[in-house]
Amino acid sequence: MRLHLIHGCAVREPYPSDFGFSGTLGTHLLSQDIWTQEQGRHGTELWLTLSAILGRFKMFQAFLGTKARAENAPADLVSAMRETAGTLFNSMDSHFSVWSSAHEPLNVPCLGCEPAVSLEPLRLNRKTGQWANLTKVVGGGQINRHYHVNGVVGFVLEGSWYYAEKDWVARPGMMVWEPPGDVHTLMSGEEGTITLFQLEGALLYVDEEDNVVGFDDVLNHTRTYHDFCRSQSIEPLDLDY
Ligand SMILES: [Fe+2]
Repeated sequence: MRLHLIHGCAVREPYPSDFGFSGTLGTHLLSQDIWTQEQGRHGTELWLTLSAILGRFKMFQAFLGTKARAENAPADLVSAMRETAGTLFNSMDSHFSVWSSAHEPLNVPCLGCEPAVSLEPLRLNRKTGQWANLTKVVGGGQINRHYHVNGVVGFVLEGSWYYAEKDWVARPGMMVWEPPGDVHTLMSGEEGTITLFQLEGALLYVDEEDNVVGFDDVLNHTRTYHDFCRSQSIEPLDLDY
């Protein structure tokens, strides 16, 4: 999330175990005088990722399975934070003009990565417009700014989330009421979240000027659910109750 905020780049794992890079990027990395310094020996993976972002190189991510703990990983949280934050702040210090200037977000496609937001429908009642689902958001993911036509009840089952527009955090065991007309952006905590939402009517996605840019309701969720079942050759459940 830090990389997203500072550099406009949504890299899912800034400390990957495996890198592959072009000769051009390899030459760019070797030409920098860091290999005899602290950041060349510790936090190297993050530094390689940051260098590719700062150079606005074309990037691609692939999920290769659960990451094993590195043999030379810091022994405690303080050391790990110092290493990560140290590399990040060193980079910000030496590249101020790059990250502080306006630039287009750097799109980094990901093969095999879990989607940032996934829904498991529990109820899709097309007669009343009531619908319910388990909403799973990965760490750092978000549900874009939206407006609720009707009220929504949320029960937090795992993890945490918050609204970018408010100053409280929803945690497991909490019930959240989103009143009609509320506008908010749901931001997941670092550990991700699973929340049960019960909705009625539509939610309208809006931009910063409150222009409607999309919507979700029971009808388009029913279509998406049936399309998914068809693509997986599975029989859809009868959720229209
Ligand atoms: Fe909402």
